[in-house]
Amino acid sequence: MSYKNVHLAATSNPDQFWLEQAKQIAWFKKPSLGYQQNSDGSDSWFADGELNTAYLALDAHVEAGRGQQTALIYDSPLTKTKKQYSYQQLLDEVAQCAGMLTNYGVQKGDRVLVYLPMIPQAVIAMLACARIGAIHSVVFGGFAAKELAVRLDDATPKLLLTATGGLEPNKTIDYQPLIQEALDLAQHQPSAVLIWSRPEIPLTAAFDLWQDALQQASPASFVRLKSTDPLYILYTSGTTGTPKGVVRDNGGHAVAMAYSMSALYNCHVGDVYWAASDVGWVVGHSYIVYAPLIKGCTTVLYEGKPVGTPDAGAFWRVCEEYNVKLLFAAPTAFRAIKKADPEGQLVSKFNLASLNTIFMAGERLDPATLAWTQQHTNKLVVDHWWQTETGWAIAGNPLGIEPFPVKPGSSSLPLPGYKVEILNHVGQPCQAMEQGFIALKRPLPPGCLQTIWKNSARFESSYLTQFPGYYASGDGGYLDEEGYLFVMGRIDDVINVAGHRLSTGEMEAVLSEHPSVAECAVIGVQDELKGQVPLALVVLKDGVYTCAQTLEHELIAQIRAEIGAIACLKQAHIVDRLPKTRSGKILRATLRKVANKEAYSVPSTIDDPAILEEIKHQLTDASA
Ligand code: COA
Ligand code: AMP
Repeated sequence: MSYKNVHLAATSNPDQFWLEQAKQIAWFKKPSLGYQQNSDGSDSWFADGELNTAYLALDAHVEAGRGQQTALIYDSPLTKTKKQYSYQQLLDEVAQCAGMLTNYGVQKGDRVLVYLPMIPQAVIAMLACARIGAIHSVVFGGFAAKELAVRLDDATPKLLLTATGGLEPNKTIDYQPLIQEALDLAQHQPSAVLIWSRPEIPLTAAFDLWQDALQQASPASFVRLKSTDPLYILYTSGTTGTPKGVVRDNGGHAVAMAYSMSALYNCHVGDVYWAASDVGWVVGHSYIVYAPLIKGCTTVLYEGKPVGTPDAGAFWRVCEEYNVKLLFAAPTAFRAIKKADPEGQLVSKFNLASLNTIFMAGERLDPATLAWTQQHTNKLVVDHWWQTETGWAIAGNPLGIEPFPVKPGSSSLPLPGYKVEILNHVGQPCQAMEQGFIALKRPLPPGCLQTIWKNSARFESSYLTQFPGYYASGDGGYLDEEGYLFVMGRIDDVINVAGHRLSTGEMEAVLSEHPSVAECAVIGVQDELKGQVPLALVVLKDGVYTCAQTLEHELIAQIRAEIGAIACLKQAHIVDRLPKTRSGKILRATLRKVANKEAYSVPSTIDDPAILEEIKHQLTDASA
């Protein structure tokens, strides 16, 4: 079937289409129901189906005779370790870990917080939770103690799984004081903290030792779960200071994972699939752990960077060494490689014969990075657009259905199941080529968020009320005459820093705690390497006189301490006042244009038009 026909089938009769796709996975009880909206407003798929996601990812392959096939390759240039797990070995480790969780009283529906670096225990812990029906919530290792505390209080986990620390080029991050600080800050206390002792970072905390606890456990079998039982909660930045706990189900997710591996990535049993992301992000959940394993592929867990571990040839070395068929990473990683190896000399050192396609996501793939990657690798390079909320791509090049020519700047076509429309501010459809809000007509396909953890009202207000009948993506863009989607960026207060999604509202809340700050605005400015970086404009309290440099250092330190180094706040400028509407709303969109040195028109609602010129001059003076 052509892409057009498949897309039409999925949008005109979603239940029939997805019940057919659901046959790809081994249910314990096959579903007869498709999409349903629950009374609390949450979404569900395949409500009467029963399955277990860890069974699909491991046991089903062993039962099918693939026990000796490599399931997981761990490659860590940071620790100089390489290790491979067959499906049988990974299953044994996961079952043992599941038994350990059971010994700690973890049961179906309990939450387990996972704060781990890129080591196999992260994958094992996630699958062990899935095996016994516990809901994991993985927190990215780059987040500071306060972020961890917020998640502890929201998810109220029974157990916290962690390690002695993570490694970054030229430094180690000792997690132990950080975990203790998070526990001190949080209201909710898990009943135990289990710590994996890494040889590189000494154990100092008095938490229970994971290695010992494993010895005392017996392997646990998988449990039967309802399709709608939550598999995980993953927190993501919204426009306010409090992160949103995206809830993902078991059944819809498994079907979407399996479907996307073939329809979008054209990957099948035995292929080596490498998502060079982190398990703490949605890309890591979906395409390091679940989708490749559900599909019976080999997945790569890479603890390293695109550059500096040891050089810009690292990605190509991994592709050659493990016969990677598909590489998926953020454009920022390729910009870093391009900067270090502009002529592609390191690319040509490696044999990339196995590599078919390079997929990118996390931010818009800029045409210059696309061109460099195409030129130096000679591979098909595909941009695809998605979000933590959707769990898999909304738009992309459906290689397993019908490959389309690549258009620079576009993430290609809406995938089957997604009805993408461009709406203006009153919810009317835009013409082709006209920019507007990117909205998805409901129902969303399987795999997308069910709701926000313990907050269905926030699910409604964040996504469903702006355009009734649609999911508002928070991104702006347009469709061209051929139906290609061009995503131009967030239209809310979320920014993307090196492929990491961060909330400027959250940064503003942190900066406002500083005793000298009366008010502030944080905006995203363009950055050659990271795509965007935050810039803070602060107004001092009356009567406060402080050295601008000292204040800047203090504010930067505050963001690092409360959100984490990944926020990458490097600039904070004191300004006399901020531009506001007459009703007192800060004009952030206009500020963004001023800071990015783009042309701007003075909004008619502005309180005092002179402020914009003042800020423009202050920023020019500061950068001089
Ligand atoms: N744990 C602890 N700290 C972390 C961390 C982690 N997992 N990841 C990053 N950090 C820290 C870094 O050490 C750095 O700290 P510093 O300011 O003290 O030096 C800071 O956060 C910023 O790190 P990073 O964003 O990695 O910037 P960089 O300049 O070191 O590297 C890139 C730039 C482009 C190489 C890097 O950002 C990168 O690999 N990006 C790809 C991101 C990605 O895959 N995103 C997934 C989305 S699909
Ligand atoms: P996250 O939830 O961390 O995956 O971030 C999702 C956001 O990243 C989206 O809402 C977009 O703003 C941005 N994004 C992800 N992929 C792309 C892409 N291919 N093109 C443009 N923006 C993207």
